[in-house]
Amino acid sequence: MAAQTVAVVLAGGVGQRVGSPVPKQLIEVGGRPILAHAIAAFDAHPGIGEVLVVMTPGHVPTAAALAAPFSKVTGVIEGGDTRTGSTVAALGALAGHPGDTRVLFHDAARPFVDAPVIDRVLAALETHEAVAVGVPSSDTIVMVEDGLVASMPPRASLCRFQTPQGFRLATVRAAYDLALADPGLRATDDCGIVHRYLPDVPIRVVEGSERNLKVTHPLDVVVAEHLAGTAGAPD
Ligand code: CTP
Ligand code: MG
Repeated sequence: MAAQTVAVVLAGGVGQRVGSPVPKQLIEVGGRPILAHAIAAFDAHPGIGEVLVVMTPGHVPTAAALAAPFSKVTGVIEGGDTRTGSTVAALGALAGHPGDTRVLFHDAARPFVDAPVIDRVLAALETHEAVAVGVPSSDTIVMVEDGLVASMPPRASLCRFQTPQGFRLATVRAAYDLALADPGLRATDDCGIVHRYLPDVPIRVVEGSERNLKVTHPLDVVVAEHLAGTAGAPD
């Protein structure tokens, strides 16, 4: 039997930088909440068997109502104080799943993840235990310390990470077990945890999409509203 594939939609944040009265994943773009767009992308994908939603404490009933029409959603659970905490909550909910399960962690704040991006992650998971999605950086990115340029990595070798990030469940579990035992734990995403705690695991990077933006600042809501009406437009 082929391994199961679970998409975890991480919606446990509050969206402080957007500054809306409700968590940003509940803001409507193109007539439906950002979270519903993200769930729909995975629910509709034939390679995904199950969708787990992790929601901000206090908003679980809202997310459950919003997820109800999607047949692959098997749970809506409460997230943690940090994104890492929300991933840990998801791993807890998946404790009964076999180690060869494939798990994709996706930021709910990225409503326009599309089937080709999900396809590329799933294909790479056939040969790799960890997969990230990246897009080339059009800006030069430099390391700054104390207001001065400390180093300038060559732009051609830099990319911006998006989600979903895909893993063999046993691998990401092992990385988090090590991470949780580390009092100095710091990470912004799940690949960061695998890279830091299981440095020998190669992380395959596949191509993302410019449309797959993360709604982070108020301007992104305006851009997302526009993108919601432009399906099929070029990247
Ligand atoms: N996230 C989560 N649990 C948290 C924090 C974040 O599941 N405790 C999720 C967010 O809901 C989002 C994704 O992780 O879909 C990426 O995080 P980010 O863009 O930083 O969202 P927020 O933390 O909500 O925004 P902010 O940092 O501006 O408060
Ligand atoms: Mg955040």
